[in-house]
Amino acid sequence: MKPICCFLFLSIFIFIFSSPSSSIPLNNAFTAAITRRHLSDTPKEIDPPPDDDLACEIETDARLNFPNPRLKKAYCVLQQWKKVIYSDPENMLSNWEGADVCSYKGVFCEKALDDPNVVTVAGIDLNHGDIAGQLICLLGLLTDLAIFHINSNRFCGTIPTSFSRLTILHEFDISNNRFVGPFPNVVLEMPKLKYLDIRFNDFEGGLPPELFDKDLDAIFLNDNRFTSTIPENIGNSNASVIVFADNDFKGCIPKSIGQMTSLDEVIFANNELSGCVPEELTMLENIKVLDLSNNNFVGTLPNGFERLKNVESIDIGRNELIGKVVESVCTLPKLMNFTFSKNFFDGLEPKCEKPMKAELVLDDRENCLPKKPNQKTEQKCSPVVNHPIDCKSLGCKKPSRTSDEESKKRKPRRRPPPPPPPVQSPPPPPPVQSPPPPVFSPPPPVPSPPPPTPSPPPPSPPPPVLSPPPPPPPVPSPPPPSFNDVDIPEYIGSRYPSPPPPVHPGY
Ligand SMILES: *[C@@H]1O[C@H](CO)[C@@H](O)[C@H](O)[C@H]1NC(C)=O
Ligand SMILES: *[C@@H]1O[C@H](CO)[C@@H](O)[C@H](O)[C@H]1NC(C)=O
Repeated sequence: MKPICCFLFLSIFIFIFSSPSSSIPLNNAFTAAITRRHLSDTPKEIDPPPDDDLACEIETDARLNFPNPRLKKAYCVLQQWKKVIYSDPENMLSNWEGADVCSYKGVFCEKALDDPNVVTVAGIDLNHGDIAGQLICLLGLLTDLAIFHINSNRFCGTIPTSFSRLTILHEFDISNNRFVGPFPNVVLEMPKLKYLDIRFNDFEGGLPPELFDKDLDAIFLNDNRFTSTIPENIGNSNASVIVFADNDFKGCIPKSIGQMTSLDEVIFANNELSGCVPEELTMLENIKVLDLSNNNFVGTLPNGFERLKNVESIDIGRNELIGKVVESVCTLPKLMNFTFSKNFFDGLEPKCEKPMKAELVLDDRENCLPKKPNQKTEQKCSPVVNHPIDCKSLGCKKPSRTSDEESKKRKPRRRPPPPPPPVQSPPPPPPVQSPPPPVFSPPPPVPSPPPPTPSPPPPSPPPPVLSPPPPPPPVPSPPPPSFNDVDIPEYIGSRYPSPPPPVHPGY
């Protein structure tokens, strides 16, 4: 039995709701108590009462009629949540009144998976709401949720441990908010989770290895404050997309990555990763997008790139790589964009001199290439180029000689979260990968810079994972139209603007 953090809460509830004189409005003291309680929400757990699922199925307001107890419970939960919303500039929650919770904006109902005769709250989608508030542990009572999307808001605090009760949740998108603290381990306890998106928050510290033992299809971790190494068991994951970008991950890319044959896109950009580029990366036969840019990788490129038959984009720019750029990369059949600028390469094999096909973009700037324009100075090049690296003895440490160079090119410690895109305009074409961080310019002010200009559309056809999004209802009615609109900020992290289609049974 999973503990739920809000036993005290619920007791207060029962007390208030069951007192005959009370009607819906809860008094301010109670609201304050909720807020306080949530603010002080600690890992300290209180055992659930035997019937805490019943806690909300109590008399709320005798004048309100609910089609079934689940919707009544949802009413109770949503009303309490609304009480800890401090700002709602777009009036997202303005119609969160009355018993018809299925008509609340952002709340989606479906027939319950376990009982087709009962309609229940199956999805919450408050994307791009600019709402400031918190998550409350009572949300863990919405156990029929398959989708929880609150991206691009100002939710703060932590993820209540009670979310472990969301046993059929498939998509958890809390990206672009203000959540803090360590990695939200509660997501590891969501047994059906496929899509995990926590990018653009302030999570810090390390990643639990269990993350890569979960059956997830997409993992977005970019633009947080993670500082750990990448767990060695990453290769256990069957995810098709993993984005580590814009954190402070350090150490080597684990060799187990070679097992990840379902990987379609992996982005390591803008971290503090080091060591040599592992040859195991060339075993990712299905990879389309590979981005190692702006890290501390050293040594020569490994052999075996000819195996990456599906790769469309490779970015190894802004590292300390040396040696020759080899034809086995430049002639990959689907390659459209190969960026190796800002390294210390001092040779190009003939077919890398000039792209073999018109669609292929090769960026060779700021290397040590003889007779090429826009290269580093001899003075910068010679100490590095003539200094072969022994990957084995180097291990995963960053070589000290590069520290000067490195500190100059580092990104600012903290990047502003992207603003929500303008409401009206059509979505910009998804960039192939994260936009480059503002390395040299100061970060724009947080409140409202214009949305980043998206890079030109990827030359490749749209990735398979892109196709129509979420919740296909089990059999009957098509999902409500707004479900199809659900989108993740298209301009960040990856070219996946919306969750991948569920490869899972569900709503
Ligand atoms: C990945 O897929 C394989 C084969 O279907 C399965 O045995 C394994 O458990 C999956 N791994 C994870 C972490 O889900
Ligand atoms: C190629 O990739 C680089 C870096 O990833 C990106 O900045 C550039 O816009 C891409 N070029 C094209 C034509 O897609």
